[in-house]
Amino acid sequence: MRNIVLIGFMGTGKSTVGKRLAQALAWDFVDTDCEIGEVTNLTVTEIFRRHGEKRFRSEESIVVARLSQLEHIVIATGGGTVLNPLNWEALANNGTVIGLHASLEAILRRIGHKNDRPLLKGPKEEIEKLWSERQRCYAQANFMVDTSEKNIDEVVNEILDRLGRSVNNEFRGVAQD
Ligand code: S3P
Repeated sequence: MRNIVLIGFMGTGKSTVGKRLAQALAWDFVDTDCEIGEVTNLTVTEIFRRHGEKRFRSEESIVVARLSQLEHIVIATGGGTVLNPLNWEALANNGTVIGLHASLEAILRRIGHKNDRPLLKGPKEEIEKLWSERQRCYAQANFMVDTSEKNIDEVVNEILDRLGRSVNNEFRGVAQD
């Protein structure tokens, strides 16, 4: 298996699940937002504030291009990473893309009160619009897991189960469901 790439809206659990999944597989874990932070020496919020979203997206693409060359890592992307088709292609070419889904209610419950996401600062209607617009993109993943009402263990186990099935099916040449 190549890399595992977690995509999905903010607050769907990509980083938390990614860390646990990496542990379970004894793979390294990488978070694109953290990588951007290390390269630029700025937090995501600072990059947005000082340089704007365009600069953030450009740093994000550089990080994605580098990580896509690696193997056996679990990558947690930022919620907007795969909206850029070039990022999607680079990640999908060398990894299984897993979409984490959560209802807007679950997302707001988890992170609505936190102030560290520049794109979640607007009114609920704006967040809902962004969430709705992006669903079609995330749904292009190899498979989706709904995290809304599940704890981390349940999500990780579901992913491992699905991956196990995929690997076995590939091995046997059986069509995947
Ligand atoms: C973003 C999601 C954030 C971060 C940035 C932009 C987005 O990552 O990359 O604030 O466009 O959805 P998380 O999904 O990890 O919160």
